[in-house]
Amino acid sequence: MSSSIEKKINDLREEINKHNYRYYVLAEPSISDEQYDKLVKELEKLESENPQLITPDSPTQRVGKDLTKEFKPVNHKIPMLSLANTYDEQDVYDFDRRVRETLPPGEEVEYVVEYKIDGASVSINYVNGYLQTAATRGDGYVGEEITNNVKTIRSVPLKITFPPNLKYDLTDFEARGEVYMRIEDFEKINKEREKTGEKLFANPRNSAAGTLKLQDPKIVAKRKLSVFLYYLISPTVEFESQEENLKLLHQLGFKVNRDYKVCKSIEEVLAFCKTIEEKRYTLDYEIDGAVIKVNSIRQQNILGNIAKSPRWAVAYKFKAKQAFTKLNDITWQVGRTGAITPVAELEPVKLAGSTISRATLHNFDEIVRKDIRVGDTVVIEKGGDVIPKIVSVIIDERPKNSKPTVQPTICPVCKSKIYKPENEVAIYCENPECPAQIKGRLLHFASRGAMDIDGLGEALIDLFVDKGFIKHFSDIYHLKNKRDELIKIERLGEKSVDNLLSAIEKSKKQPFAKVLFALGIRYVGAAAAQKITDHFKTIDEIINASEEEISSIYEIGPSISNSIKNFFAEKKNILLINELQKAGLIFISEKKEVKVSSLNNKTFVLTGTLNAFSRDEASAQIIALGGKVTSSVSKNTDYVVAGEKAGSKLAKAESLGVKIINEDEFLKMLKAN
Ligand code: IVH
Repeated sequence: MSSSIEKKINDLREEINKHNYRYYVLAEPSISDEQYDKLVKELEKLESENPQLITPDSPTQRVGKDLTKEFKPVNHKIPMLSLANTYDEQDVYDFDRRVRETLPPGEEVEYVVEYKIDGASVSINYVNGYLQTAATRGDGYVGEEITNNVKTIRSVPLKITFPPNLKYDLTDFEARGEVYMRIEDFEKINKEREKTGEKLFANPRNSAAGTLKLQDPKIVAKRKLSVFLYYLISPTVEFESQEENLKLLHQLGFKVNRDYKVCKSIEEVLAFCKTIEEKRYTLDYEIDGAVIKVNSIRQQNILGNIAKSPRWAVAYKFKAKQAFTKLNDITWQVGRTGAITPVAELEPVKLAGSTISRATLHNFDEIVRKDIRVGDTVVIEKGGDVIPKIVSVIIDERPKNSKPTVQPTICPVCKSKIYKPENEVAIYCENPECPAQIKGRLLHFASRGAMDIDGLGEALIDLFVDKGFIKHFSDIYHLKNKRDELIKIERLGEKSVDNLLSAIEKSKKQPFAKVLFALGIRYVGAAAAQKITDHFKTIDEIINASEEEISSIYEIGPSISNSIKNFFAEKKNILLINELQKAGLIFISEKKEVKVSSLNNKTFVLTGTLNAFSRDEASAQIIALGGKVTSSVSKNTDYVVAGEKAGSKLAKAESLGVKIINEDEFLKMLKAN
């Protein structure tokens, strides 16, 4: 192999990396897109002729060929904490007071104030200067590996060139920050989705977070994500300050938001928060506040963390975005559980980057409380959550002939009777065969987090239910016998029917947790379904379990266990499970590849106060090592971890002869794995 080719390849890589940096990090390109593409093509050609010279950090390797089959769990060596929120000046003064009270008397405190980028947080690990893995935040302790997707972000260096005067050993470090989508790119994606009839993303944050979890890096690359890094950490290095941290990240070649400020007093902090709020709508990306951080890392360490957030930083959240518009109508939607909820049909209005034409009204009580009437001018708000809501009514602008809103007395879809359970605000359609309920259940069953049947969305479900093709979940799996009839439907055609049928076949591989979630049992969300199937091996075990047994699972409460019991007490639901089993769906827990640790398959109960971490943190660590955590002690408990002021659980453990360990022993056990 000619060394001149090798040199040419290396020169090209260096040149392309330089332009990537200028374009994506500094936003100061020095060549045209055309010239840039030419360089990349030349490198691609040389590499394809000399595949032995391809290295993982080559700029051509940003988009790998492989699909990500599953997002593997990644343990965060240093937890990814979130931030406590403050909403007004007083909260910020309180934060400052707490900081000063905790630090030794008389210490000066400096703060760094940064933009709070509205995206999804990531942690990128570099070993020996090479990008090793990238992970989502997850629950803060265990995230998901999204390396291939993060590599597509051009401003993220695949290899670090360490500056010669670097005073720290950064052999192994993590750069943490926020992946976001520019407003322009978000709008472009939504326009395309509108054309293809796909569900629109509610905001750039959801769009960024959704994109990070796509399985095909090629699509991720097209979506053009961006990232600002704001946190550099290494288990072996102690840095001096947050300001130094940001500067180091910049020196290492990362994209850092330069609009931060080091402030000497809390008044200066507040003034800068206001400046940021004014700038908010001039930016080409979304921010939802400012982050205030104690600058000195020594002081940060003294302050430490509480449960899930540090004591040395807070988020200063902006007020929710509001707009005025007219309420054209109130419609009543019937959900899969039969709950009938009012929806505000609004005169379309632009609010914080998107057009709003509907808002949730939650329930009739809320309509009465706010006296919301058709024809009113209303104030709508988009807070942290996706769905806009009506805050209030402008009474002065109410039309003279307006009448108070009344609640429906029959189901708006099937005209059946309505009932209102005691202790609930919602009203329900009493007919489980109501087409709206059937459609809602099927839609949930086929949805992404459940059976994930690509293509079986609202439009097709409406069509199939109306035409009598499907009614029960199991009918979906018999659609293949009706292929001839399906392809005759005008809008469908052979190709889309075949795609749908193969998506249906594919869904049979969905793991037990997803199947359990898909059943739509009340209160059994995706996380609960996962916990339940982690605990029980088969559907029969769940069907036969007592309510107490189900609610002894950590974080599974009595409303969930009661709802599960009620669901399986109905004969038709048992028949449904039989049908789905016959169709080939999975009702057995998969064997998880857990690290073989001494905690593997061991059941823990935590009681009393632990010093080193909160119970959630301790549980996360146990689960990460293959153990289980339950809330009550039984003869099946292996260990009771007794913190300070442990109460009755300790006595129960003693009476059952269950092994009791203190916090130190527990820490040793974790460390040993
Ligand atoms: S610092 C312990 N800085 O906001 C450090 N977070 O609500 C915690 N975020 O999970 C994070 N911009 O995803 C920090 N400049 C910034 C940020 C930022 C956005 C996100 C981050 C975090 C969330 C907390």
